[in-house]
Amino acid sequence: MVEGILSKAFWFVAATVFAAATVVHGQQAPCFFIFGDSVFDSGNNNNLQSKAKVNFPPYGIDFPKGPTGRFSNGRTIPDLIGELLGFKDFIPPFSGASPEQAHTGLNYASGGGGLREETSEHLGDRVSLSNQVLNHRKAIKKAKVPSQRLQQCLYVINIGSNDYINNYFMSEPYNSSRRFNHNQYAYSLNLLYRAHLKTLHRLGARKVALFGITQIGCTPKVMLSHGGGKACAKEVNDAVRIFNKNLDDLVKDFNKKVKGVKYTFVDVFCGGDPKAFGVLGFKVGDKSCCPVSPAPGEELCTPNQQVCANRSEYVFWDDIHSTEAVNRKVAKGSFEGLLTRPYSISQLVKE
Ligand SMILES: *[C@@H]1O[C@H](CO)[C@@H](O)[C@H](O)[C@H]1NC(C)=O
Ligand SMILES: *[C@@H]1O[C@H](CO)[C@@H](O)[C@H](O)[C@H]1NC(C)=O
Repeated sequence: MVEGILSKAFWFVAATVFAAATVVHGQQAPCFFIFGDSVFDSGNNNNLQSKAKVNFPPYGIDFPKGPTGRFSNGRTIPDLIGELLGFKDFIPPFSGASPEQAHTGLNYASGGGGLREETSEHLGDRVSLSNQVLNHRKAIKKAKVPSQRLQQCLYVINIGSNDYINNYFMSEPYNSSRRFNHNQYAYSLNLLYRAHLKTLHRLGARKVALFGITQIGCTPKVMLSHGGGKACAKEVNDAVRIFNKNLDDLVKDFNKKVKGVKYTFVDVFCGGDPKAFGVLGFKVGDKSCCPVSPAPGEELCTPNQQVCANRSEYVFWDDIHSTEAVNRKVAKGSFEGLLTRPYSISQLVKE
C-alpha cells in the first residue's frame, strides 16, 4: 500500500518534471508557416524565371548548407525565429517540399512577391501573397492537416516592400504612382492585406505575426535611386510609414473583432535607420558587405566576389537585404517583444 502511494507519487513527480521540461526546452509550436518576399524566401525562386534569385555564392557564405536561395549571408529572420521556437530543422521552402511537411510547416515566401499582382513583374516570375495563400490551401488540404493543429501553428508574414520599391516608386513600367497618392496607395494595399488575412483565418490561422516595412528609403539601393546617393529617401520612408500605421490598425481590428485570434504587428521601422543600427553596434550602415554591380537597378551581390572582412559589422549584406547579424536582432526583438505590439511571438505561441 505504502509502496503503491510512493510509486504513484514518484510517477506524478516524474511526469510533472518531464512535462515542464518539454514546455521549456521543446518545440513551442507544432508547426510554423512563412509567407512573404525575399526577406523571408528560402529558395522558392530557385527554379523560377526570375532575376530575383540568389542560389549562388557569396549568398549563404555563413549558412550551414551554403547558397540555398536565402537573400542573406546566413540565416533569415524566420530561420532564427524557428530556432528560438525550438524547431530542430529549418522550415522547408514550399517548392520541392514533400506533402507531409505541411504538418510541421512550409515556407511560401518569394523574392519579388507583393500584395499587388503586377508588383515586380519586370523581374520575371514571383509568387504574390494571394498565390502564396493558395499554395498554403493546396498544401494543407493535400496533407490533410487537422484544423485543430492548424490553429496552434505560428504564421509570419513579411510583405509590402516590393509594392513600393518594385511598383509605386518605379514609374516605368508601373503607373500606380500616377493613379494613387500615398494615402490611397497604402489604403489599397491594406484592403488586399485584409482580404488575404481573412482567407488565412478561414484556413485555420489564429496566431499571426505581421511584419511592417523597414525604412527602405535608407537602403543603399533606394538611397542611390531616390536619395541622391547620400541621404535616406524621405519620400519613400514617409509613404511606407502610412502602410505601417494601417497595418498596425488592421492588427488591432482583427484582435478586437475576431474571436480567438492573436495577431501581432512587428515594428521594424523604428530601428531601421542607420543611426539606430549604430547604437546597436553596427559599424557600416550605408553600404553593402558584398560588391554589387554599379549598373542601374542592381541590388544583388555580384557572383563569386570577395566580401567584407567582418559580416557582423555590416547592416546590409547586398544593396537591400540585411546581414544575419541584423536578422538575429530582429528575430530576438520580435520573439521577446521589443519590436511587437500587442503580443511578442513568444506570447503568441503560448496557449
Ligand atoms: C496602368 O497599368 C495597368 C497595367 O499594369 C493598365 O491595365 C492600366 O490601364 C494603366 N492605367 C493607366 C491610367 O494608365
Ligand atoms: C566582427 O565584428 C563583431 C561586431 O563588431 C565583433 O564582435 C567581432 O569580434 C568581429 N570579429 C572579428 C574576427 O574581428
